Amino acid sequence: MYIKKKIAAIALAVISLLAAGQVPAAGADDSASAVAVAEKAATELMTALKTELQAAMRKGGPVAAIDICSTRAQALSAEIPGRSNRPDVTVKRTSLKFRNPANRPTPEEERVLRNFAAQLQEGAALQPTTRRTNTALHYYRPILTEPLCLSCHGDPDHMDTAVLEALRQRYPEDMAAGYNAGELRGMVSVTVPAAP
Ligand code: HEC
Repeated sequence: MYIKKKIAAIALAVISLLAAGQVPAAGADDSASAVAVAEKAATELMTALKTELQAAMRKGGPVAAIDICSTRAQALSAEIPGRSNRPDVTVKRTSLKFRNPANRPTPEEERVLRNFAAQLQEGAALQPTTRRTNTALHYYRPILTEPLCLSCHGDPDHMDTAVLEALRQRYPEDMAAGYNAGELRGMVSVTVPAAP
């Protein structure tokens, strides 16, 4: 009995090792690997942005860091899928109150964002969600505000005037201010097309 259990445990370990080592082929649309591709793209975008943002804030303060958020965010979004050999994947940040009109949510993204906002209001800890259609896997990961974000997304009355001015010049229709920490700022939205 004991030995049988042990053999079963070893077999399981070997199977999971094999599974972990499996690299999904480009274009693979198997559900688990599509989610893994999406998670990886979302994490890469958010990690790279945060690292660059923190470095730029330390070096030149929030006015200098605005460049990272505007130029680098769009560039990284375009660049990251290619790094994992999945140029067909799209990754973007979006919000109900977007700063850059290029980040405007699709109707489906808007529905997901409203759902996240409602859940947060009920006190839920937000989790990423996925939706599968015939043509793609969609992955949505919520983004909450932290104290670090408020120098550019906080109450304008408490923001540096140079930051306000720089934002006003670049984003005349900016809606992304007035947040407190712990609020829903937006989400990362990743689309992984199914294999043709
Ligand atoms: C130095 C100023 C600055 C800081 C600090 C900052 N942001 Fe932003 N944020 C911006 C700018 C500028 C944009 C517009 C980016 C673009 O043009 O795509 C933006 C856009 C975004 C977007 C995309 C949706 C939109 O509104 O267009 C999200 C999501 C976001 N920020 C989240 C955050 C979070 C979360 C933090 C804190 C971890 C943060 N930001 C910190 C300046 C900042």
